[in-house]
Amino acid sequence: MRGGLLLANQRFPEVANREWLRYRPAMTKITVLDNGPLRIEGNFTICDASGKEFGLGGRTALSLCRCGKSANLPFCDGAHARTGFQSACPARDLPPPKPKV
Ligand code: FES
Repeated sequence: MRGGLLLANQRFPEVANREWLRYRPAMTKITVLDNGPLRIEGNFTICDASGKEFGLGGRTALSLCRCGKSANLPFCDGAHARTGFQSACPARDLPPPKPKV
């Protein structure tokens, strides 16, 4: 995979970064967009709390609301921009998971 294809924080990664799917078609990529949604691309399903799948109409990319203001939860409808949602989450390393007792 070429460097730079998985850059986060791009406004429309589906346009700039679709090439990564050619290299890793089974991979799912989630991008935390600054002041916006979680952009999901690749192979994925989205289920409700009971396990029932949302019908995604064949989409291989969509955005999940992170601001809580969408009228179409859990999907982003652009309300984050109208409401001034502010949240930047630069990539970082998490500590190892705690051992299960
Ligand atoms: S993140 Fe877009 S409407 Fe909430």
